[in-house]
Amino acid sequence: MDAPLSLHIKTFGCQMNVYDSGRMGEILKAQGMTYEERLGEADVILINTCSIRDKAEHKVLSLLGQLKPLKEKNPKRVIGVAGCVGQRIGRQLLQRVPHLDFVVGPDGIDHVGELVDGVVKRGERCVDAKLDTDGRSYSQPLLSTAPKVAEYITVMKGCDHFCTYCIVPFVRGREKSRSIQEIVGDVERLVAQGTKEVTFLGQNINTYGKGSAETLAQLIERTHEVRGLERIRYVTSHPRDMGMDLISQFGNLEKLCPALHLPFQSGSDAVLKRMSRLYTSAEYLKKIAALREACPDIALSADVIVGFPGETDEDFEQTMTVLSEVRFSLAFLFTYSPRPGTKAYELSDDVSREVKEERLARTMKLTMEIIEEENRKRIGGIESVLVESIDKKKGRYFFGRSLHNKIVHVLNAGPACVGKVIDVEVTEANGSNLKGYYVDAERIDRVASL
Ligand code: 5AD
Ligand code: SF4
Repeated sequence: MDAPLSLHIKTFGCQMNVYDSGRMGEILKAQGMTYEERLGEADVILINTCSIRDKAEHKVLSLLGQLKPLKEKNPKRVIGVAGCVGQRIGRQLLQRVPHLDFVVGPDGIDHVGELVDGVVKRGERCVDAKLDTDGRSYSQPLLSTAPKVAEYITVMKGCDHFCTYCIVPFVRGREKSRSIQEIVGDVERLVAQGTKEVTFLGQNINTYGKGSAETLAQLIERTHEVRGLERIRYVTSHPRDMGMDLISQFGNLEKLCPALHLPFQSGSDAVLKRMSRLYTSAEYLKKIAALREACPDIALSADVIVGFPGETDEDFEQTMTVLSEVRFSLAFLFTYSPRPGTKAYELSDDVSREVKEERLARTMKLTMEIIEEENRKRIGGIESVLVESIDKKKGRYFFGRSLHNKIVHVLNAGPACVGKVIDVEVTEANGSNLKGYYVDAERIDRVASL
């Protein structure tokens, strides 16, 4: 019998890609493959890609270039590209890169086993980049065999919004949702294996269930009933679709963490209009006020794009105003990157690279200052922390997350704390994390030694 093939998956991009990579890993493991930590040593190398910005695509192309000598050294090695770049330029990629064996788009990930088999057994180079355009629902039950304390679950795919800068609707297709029954089944199975927190994933998650009678609010309510589950989160929300049913849950449902990612992209109404975001800056701020009324201690995070076509100094200052008014606990800040095929691609990319970079630096400085100030305010207080694992870099610290999704290093926790929610007194804070001591350390040590 042949030795089992070894597999390495390199993942770029968003959490949905991390989830998809996990799924492909499970499928290939079930076919007998073993996981290889070192990319250069693996028999099968799979790159799961992102095309949200030009830079993300460049990284993939450059990595593919570096893999050429590996393939030359061992022509039997299988190299595959998955994900959004595969969807966008898969066929061209296979033509342009002779050492690439197969390409699979986001909707083809469940076929990855057959694709690898085709290459290994029959030497077939192929592309599976068909978007699943059939109806509004799909099924993709969990495969995970060794779940973590905090897990991500994709509950829907695609996006119907067509913001003018965004490639997602082109590479991930129209919105389709899994059923509440299937998702809650996943959650129950994860919890039975030790998971304590789930984060539901969708590109435009507030419209989960579109085309059916099911809604995100119902999904959250049903998930809330799962015994043993401690925390629920979801990403990514769209301000227009963040309705009162969802907002009011933040004050009412104990397991729903008081943290929400609500991208605003720009503070200028003129820019928002050209982005086709379907809300004004004032409407966005109204949603924020409603969220804070429902849940005063809610942590808010956002995405921002600077340098969108036609963005003036004045437009940009309005973005700065929203950042300083809302005081986000985290912000993902990007310079605009034209994506072929999108509507904004036809507009002139007229903000110079220097101005984009300067604006980005200003938003970064402001948000960092705010985050650091806010984090420092937590010093002396108690955070409820779900301990996820030992901190690999620091060796002896344990690592977890607060309700606000802040990384917390716990200096005196032991292995018995992993998978538990513990009270941590914060003693240090900086722009990226909190540090502190487990208040009931003695008690758990005793429990652990029983
Ligand atoms: N250029 C820059 N940023 C973009 N994003 C999406 N498309 C682009 C683009 N073409 C950002 C948005 C989105 C996040 C996931 O990526 O802010 O919310
Ligand atoms: Fe892209 Fe999000 Fe807009 Fe959908 S809602 S088009 S994923 S930015």
